[in-house]
Formats: sequence, structure tokens, C-alpha cells
Amino acid sequence: MKNYSVRMIREDMENIPQFPIPEGFAIRNYRRNEGHIWTRIQKAAEPYMNIDDGLFTREFKRDFLAMEDRSFYLTTDTGEEIGTITAWWQDDGWGQIHWVAIHPDYQGRGLSKPMMSVAMARLKQSHERCFLGTSTGRIPAVKLYLDFGFMPDTSRENSREAWTEVASVLEHPTLEEFTA
Ligand SMILES: CC(C)(COP(=O)(O)OP(=O)(O)OC[C@H]1O[C@@H](n2cnc3c(N)ncnc32)[C@H](O)[C@@H]1OP(=O)(O)O)[C@@H](O)C(=O)NCCC(=O)NCCS
Repeated sequence: MKNYSVRMIREDMENIPQFPIPEGFAIRNYRRNEGHIWTRIQKAAEPYMNIDDGLFTREFKRDFLAMEDRSFYLTTDTGEEIGTITAWWQDDGWGQIHWVAIHPDYQGRGLSKPMMSVAMARLKQSHERCFLGTSTGRIPAVKLYLDFGFMPDTSRENSREAWTEVASVLEHPTLEEFTA
């Protein structure tokens, strides 16, 4: 399967699905100078891109202070950080779900949805719409975003091919127009 880059958009912030955090886990805000934790989780989880030690700074140097209020870690009850999500934004005012990851040891347990509920609630405080970038090889991620009301941005180049490919492996009401 080809790993096309895709963009997904949510034109409003209404009716955000609420998933409670399961027992034994917690979500907390990022704290100052915790980029190394973000890097550790991304390195363990990321299947396609090279995560180097400078990535965190390149991605978030625009506003490190904002990270303390917009970035979250999912932790175990012993305090180990096992997931990360950031409620970022662009200067045009759009909110952005950015760099979502769960450590492979904890994937497949439904922990991504509570993280999304928290990050979307934070975006709603500051933005009227939001978007994200992902890719077609990341099926659990795409499923998660579709379930949270994100729609394919079909104005992007190759988006028909990309979403037809996703629809061939993922059944979802939003993707009906892309099924053969
Ligand atoms: C994206 C990520 C955070 C999702 O977390 P996760 O624990 O793997 O998510 P889940 O296992 O709960 O899967 C999410 C949904 O996708 C579904 N899913 C997973 N694999 C699937 C597959 N192959 N086909 C269809 N659905 C699938 C799950 O059933 C679940 O839906 P449900 O809650 O309705 O059952 C995690 O996979 C990850 O860190 N991936 C690597 C980094 C990455 O690609 N991040 C996204 C960057 S845009």
C-alpha cells in the first residue's frame, strides 16, 4: 500500500466525542523542558519518518510556552509517559492536531480516543475549526480522526487516489464516496 500524505479537516468544533480515560491511566499537560519525553515516545512509535533529537525543537520552537497549555502526555498510573498529543495551531487561525503517538507496548487498547477528546477540547477553547496532516498507511490514526469527525480534504493533489486506497482497507461511513 502506498503511503500518500493526506490532509483532514473539521469545519467546526461541535459534538466532539468524549471518551473517558480508562482506569490505570492519566493525562497530564506537558511541562517545561520535557521535549526528551516527546522524542522518546515518537521514536518508539513512528513507523515512517526518522525522528531525530532536534525534531522537537524544530517543530515547536515557535512557542515553547504554548506547549505547556496545548500538549499532553498520556501516562500509566506509575507516571510513565506512554502517549503524546498536541493541540497546535497555524497563524491563519486553524487549530491543528499535531504529532499523535502511543508507545507500541500500549497501542490497540483504545487509548488514543481519550487523548483526542482532551486535545480537541483544548482546540475548541481557541479555534473554530481544525485540521491535521497524516498519511494513508496509518490506518488506526485515520480511523481515529474519521471517528472524531475529520473529513478528507479533497482539494489536495492525489487525494482521490489516496482516499480510494484508504477506503479499500477501512470501512467507514465518511468514506462511502470513495468505495468502488
Ligand atoms: C495513531 C495511534 C496513536 C493510534 O493509537 P492505537 O492505540 O494504535 O489506536 P487503536 O488501536 O485504539 O485504534 C484506533 C482505531 O483504529 C482501529 N484500527 C486499528 N487498526 C485497524 C486496521 N488495520 N483496520 C481497521 N481499523 C483499525 C481500531 O479498532 C480503533 O477503532 P475502534 O476504537 O473503533 O475499535 C498509534 O497507532 C500510533 O502511535 N501510531 C504510530 C504513530 C502515528 O502514525 N501517529 C499518527 C500520526 S498522524
